[in-house]
Amino acid sequence: MRKLAAGNWKMNGLSAQLAEVAALIAAHPQPRSEVLLCPPATLLAPMAQAAAGRIALGGQDCHPNSSGAHTGDISAAMLADAGAAFVILGHSERRADHGETDALVRAKAGAAAKAGLVAIICVGETEAQRDAGETLAVIAGQLAGSVPDAASPQTTVIAYEPVWAIGTGRTPTLPEIAEVHADIRARLTARFGAAASGFRLLYGGSVKPSNAAAIFALPDVDGALVGGASLKAADFGAIIAALDAA
Ligand code: 13P
Repeated sequence: MRKLAAGNWKMNGLSAQLAEVAALIAAHPQPRSEVLLCPPATLLAPMAQAAAGRIALGGQDCHPNSSGAHTGDISAAMLADAGAAFVILGHSERRADHGETDALVRAKAGAAAKAGLVAIICVGETEAQRDAGETLAVIAGQLAGSVPDAASPQTTVIAYEPVWAIGTGRTPTLPEIAEVHADIRARLTARFGAAASGFRLLYGGSVKPSNAAAIFALPDVDGALVGGASLKAADFGAIIAALDAA
């Protein structure tokens, strides 16, 4: 399994920011890990040109349908056409801001697979759910509802992103991260059998150069989904280097 360093630029980045991609590639010409950037859709095509195949690109969402009267939406085929190989689905910001349900995320994952995109399906508990001791149950429900029955390590990556750790500088403890990742692996094994060992499980939520190595040393952490720290080549590069060394 090749580890995955994924950057989610969210609603950040204008053309000038493409310079960060050039800097990242120059500093890390041959990473051992797979490197992925998910810029806003407006930057996909120019970033694909700047990346010239050196890093992978992804979208941040797609519509479950392949085309049609859906103003403002983007289909998985369109992302692929613009140069994407991945798409983030069910990010907590979309679940919260756009009311996305597990069923919708599952439908989107099906559309992604049909278009040949790898779906990065996000799961994670809120702070209230963690405080109530519901973390593993919440994630189990999200996995059961969001991950299609046809999922495989080739089509699907799972990202564990505790909602309360996103953009806050706070993270779960290392044992807490390890506990969730082990539980996700066990649930994938129960559902998909031996293939479960091949799924890449990413941790996301306030990953930065100073905490990356410790997180990557944990069992069942196969990479990261990085928000803020992926916007700067120096920070994301340091995270890539930590993953390469893990
Ligand atoms: P931060 O790394 O900014 O906490 O964001 C994490 C995230 O939501 C990535 O999808």
